[in-house]
Amino acid sequence: MKRNDFFKTAFGSLALAGITGFRSRQIVDDPFRPEWPGTGPDDEQFWKILRAQFPLTDERAYLNTGGLGASPYAVIDAVKSKMDELEKICETGHSEELWKDVKSSAAALLGCDPGEVAFTRNATEGINIVCNGLPLKRGDEMITTTHEHVGNSVPWLALLQREGIVIKLFEPSVESAQENIDRIAKLVTKRTRLISVPHATTTVGLVLPIKALSEFARSKNIWLFVDGAQTAGMFPFNLHELGCDAYATSGHKWILGPKETGLLYVRKDMLDVIQPKFTGAYSADDFSLAKNAMKFHPSAQRYEFGTVSIPLRFGLGAAIKFMQRIGMENVWKRDQALSARLFKGLREIPYVKVLSPTDDTTRSALITIQHEKMTYLELQSHLDKFKLRTRGVGEGGVNGLRISTHIYNSVEEVDRVLEATRSAWRG
Ligand SMILES: Cc1ncc(COP(=O)(O)O)c(C=O)c1O
Repeated sequence: MKRNDFFKTAFGSLALAGITGFRSRQIVDDPFRPEWPGTGPDDEQFWKILRAQFPLTDERAYLNTGGLGASPYAVIDAVKSKMDELEKICETGHSEELWKDVKSSAAALLGCDPGEVAFTRNATEGINIVCNGLPLKRGDEMITTTHEHVGNSVPWLALLQREGIVIKLFEPSVESAQENIDRIAKLVTKRTRLISVPHATTTVGLVLPIKALSEFARSKNIWLFVDGAQTAGMFPFNLHELGCDAYATSGHKWILGPKETGLLYVRKDMLDVIQPKFTGAYSADDFSLAKNAMKFHPSAQRYEFGTVSIPLRFGLGAAIKFMQRIGMENVWKRDQALSARLFKGLREIPYVKVLSPTDDTTRSALITIQHEKMTYLELQSHLDKFKLRTRGVGEGGVNGLRISTHIYNSVEEVDRVLEATRSAWRG
């Protein structure tokens, strides 16, 4: 279908309303409309219409998807309608069918099997399940980066305090993927059991070479855990191809799902290795107190327990489908086009140092800068005056300012960041 025909059929006249700023809810509420076709990263008209699918205010440019993603109406309405439906009858709404449906979508997004996916409340919960479930004991060593988010630091530090594991750190290089593997290799000893790295660092958005690291880890008989909080929903990938043992992500960042949603992937053959520590209803396939017997659920559902919010999980399913309708390739092309424009423009501004990788194969849609004349907090306050929502990065001593670009951002917003940054120092 040609783009113009698509506008007429899928969005009809409401699409034009979207362009002029009218926020239509009907557009996203129709589950039977045709699949959204792929669109070019530079097709501003399409992306403007897409932006109209979000209640996100035009008052300020939201450039912190790395912190929290803005949900589209499709997600908000899914949560609300499920809540309305369930509260009328006061039921949890838990159903095999819903679980299967959302996990199938999640598995397609992540490139794995539905049975390898567990619902969590956030990336940190997934990290905790892996951290506390792996059979690590006193003296066992793990290797991680100096650029970890608090969510992938505190759980391991708690394990260090409680069980006496040893944590070894390497500084991630933005220059070379091989250099990162070499830095890890130098830290490996006979006691190394685990490598824990982010798929993309929260600090400067460096994408680490997970496939090569998986091969390296496997050759040394070491587990590889990946903190994927910054990548699911940003670009397409396939966890089976990447080869890591486990991967945790948030539903409420780049996937744009409801807040307090997350996904944990545990590779099939790791399910019996990563022991579920919090368990209850749904964790077991079969159990009998009388017989002192219990068998965990054969799938990653074993990591789930107790009553949960079905509206949130339903909303997460709607978010994944929303992203899939656009197509992850298209999402990434758009995110990449915006961040490349930002990256290039920032590099031309005097006194600005861009900390994110120059190589676009290891650069994500998170661009982090420092200003030679200002602290990152001063720069952030300056950008605030232009109604630009960014995020300061203190992790790893980076002391930079992070700007995320996602599908609801525009070229005009990127140019506003450039203009505002240029005006920060006229000295
Ligand atoms: C790399 C990384 N890991 C973990 C987290 C924590 O995510 P959540 O709040 O979903 O637990 C974040 C959040 O920014 C992150 O960037």
